[in-house]
Amino acid sequence: MSSRFAVVAGARPNFMKVAPIIRALQERDADAPLIHTGQHYDAKMSGNFFDVLGIPEAHINLGVGSGTHAAQTAAVMTGFETWLNDNPVDGVIVVGDVNSTMACTLVAAKCGVAVAHVEAGLRAFDRTMPEEVNRVVTDTLSTWLFTTSPDADANLLAEGCEPGRIHLVGNVMADSLFSVIDRARDRKPWISLELPDRFGLVTLHRPALVDDAERLAEVLGAMQQDRSGLPFVFPVHPRTRATLEDADFDPGSIRMIDPLDYLDFLALEERAAVVVTDSGGVQEETSLLGTWCVTARENTERPITVTLGTNTLVGFDVERLAAAITSALSRGACPTPNIPLWDGKAAERIADILVGAETPRPAFIPPVLTTTRGNGLGAMFA
Ligand code: UD1
Ligand code: UDP
Repeated sequence: MSSRFAVVAGARPNFMKVAPIIRALQERDADAPLIHTGQHYDAKMSGNFFDVLGIPEAHINLGVGSGTHAAQTAAVMTGFETWLNDNPVDGVIVVGDVNSTMACTLVAAKCGVAVAHVEAGLRAFDRTMPEEVNRVVTDTLSTWLFTTSPDADANLLAEGCEPGRIHLVGNVMADSLFSVIDRARDRKPWISLELPDRFGLVTLHRPALVDDAERLAEVLGAMQQDRSGLPFVFPVHPRTRATLEDADFDPGSIRMIDPLDYLDFLALEERAAVVVTDSGGVQEETSLLGTWCVTARENTERPITVTLGTNTLVGFDVERLAAAITSALSRGACPTPNIPLWDGKAAERIADILVGAETPRPAFIPPVLTTTRGNGLGAMFA
């Protein structure tokens, strides 16, 4: 009997992660119904990615839309629980760290269905980030923890996770990027956007930066301080657009445009002289493409992009940001790093493990309760 895994996607960074996984499962004769939670719903944040990535139509769109964290999480949970009760599966595959990831994990764990977390173990060690909470909960409840890099394995082991649950498989973002990069280059979006030969690219959407209009204006101002006068193109995330509109921001030499589709964005990312970002996926893609990346965040859950890749972390310090841009521009051509297992085959490794898993599949395996201080329960029940 063939296996059946529900694959969950909800927000923009999920689509490029699920596309190669669905393909690899189908190549192994597994059924892989896609559950779109509807967390992102604008064509430019969701629909556009299906065609270019060859993602099959969703089995269901839960249509949850925007809301507070609790409202959005609850809506995903309610919708997914109903679907899961009506649709038996051998496991649920979740990717990344968005609210949809955590919500579907909670539902599956309580229904006794095993969860596979793709991009497990990443930690910024900053629980003010909603994504960090989502990562910790999802990893705690997942049976299979598929990691992109050894630092993620180390984080999971330090939290008391059984080594048998961890599988270092590489990065599915690389799978999608390599599968479309030739088509992306052919698009030549810099022509239709009338960009000069040398330009910078910027994406910013983290609440810690873009929900603070003053900080956002400072960061965008610092980007314009390089003496070469590098023009920037800025596909603006809807969260960021809301702040900029409220603040009546003067963009100066920054060209603000709507979010781009995946191919146009990758093509600009590869051609840009420097990318300024706070996006997780963009930190990885710039390292894959060999483009200098300056990250406006205090921390990163993707340290390998700094140690082996092209990324420099500058926090919200405007002087460090301006200096990092100037330094990137003066260093000239960026070498293309070679990060182990970011080779375009991560989804195949994942599918081999999942489809080869013995039936009946394990329900979730709780982590070992070993902390240095103990949890106090021993004394209570002694
Ligand atoms: C979410 C993820 C974040 C991820 C980002 C990728 C969580 C907690 N956050 O952040 O980890 O990096 O997606 O882009 O899951 N909006 C639209 N159209 C849309 C979607 C959103 O206009 O299609 C607007 C709404 O006003 C909404 C706001 O953007 O309130 C934020 O959307 P939301 O999904 O809550 O969080 P993101 O900031 O997009
Ligand atoms: N991306 C895109 N168009 C854009 C901006 C980003 O296609 O205008 C892609 C980018 O190539 C990467 C992904 O979106 O694959 C990153 O998503 P995002 O920055 O929204 O989320 P994060 O990775 O920070 O969670």
